[in-house]
Amino acid sequence: MKIIAHRGFSSRAPENTLAAFGMAVEFGVDGLEFDVHLSKDGEVVICHDEAVDRTTDGEGLIKDFTWEELRRLDAGSWFEPRFVGERIPRLSDLLELVAGTRLLLNIELKTNIFPYPGIEEKVIQMVKNFGIVNRCIISSFNHHSLLRAITILPELKTGALYEADLFKPWEYAETFGAAALHPEHHSVTPELVREARHRGIMVNPWTVNEPVHMERMIAAAVDGIITNYPDVAKQVLQNTSR
Ligand code: G3P
Ligand code: MG
Repeated sequence: MKIIAHRGFSSRAPENTLAAFGMAVEFGVDGLEFDVHLSKDGEVVICHDEAVDRTTDGEGLIKDFTWEELRRLDAGSWFEPRFVGERIPRLSDLLELVAGTRLLLNIELKTNIFPYPGIEEKVIQMVKNFGIVNRCIISSFNHHSLLRAITILPELKTGALYEADLFKPWEYAETFGAAALHPEHHSVTPELVREARHRGIMVNPWTVNEPVHMERMIAAAVDGIITNYPDVAKQVLQNTSR
């Protein structure tokens, strides 16, 4: 089972910063999950919320800032004073950081509130330029966005994010060619994983932070878990395989 660091090693460092990603890489995770938006001038930037208020010293929506304005914000001190000076990274900054690794990259398109026209093309062009299409999964709660991405590049792997306990999600995934289901972990059952695998569809639940939930995901034989606690996940995985 793959351990995918949610927003980087977000329990130890400010989420979605190079500090959090670097820490996860150093720890030895299998993959990184992170969220992307478009700035006013079309830069693909990494941040969870549509607004910068919670995780930086600025105020306002990402779509209303130019990259030049965004790069000046402090994205670290809200978490702990020692992270002062961390910045909102661009997608290209992170891709440079992980270019020499074999990490799985789960790029979540945050197109469910603002559609950010053109973001699919930009992200795909960038992962193509870095030669890492085969180790990327593009996920989103906006499945129209995923369909747009597959239409641009049919071999691209996409992950359908969802929160409800859906009826036969494996059949739904097949309707638009999603390579993976990314469910909220409470709805995961061994049957879901079995049915998905039978169709060649991966299952990567989120956000699995408690050992008891990690154990349930391991028992259900999911492909990967998205977690804020890769250290706990590694320990649970080791204990389970003993
Ligand atoms: O990709 C899994 C998870 O990140 C989805 O929810 O809100 O944390 O981006 P959120
Ligand atoms: Mg996310």
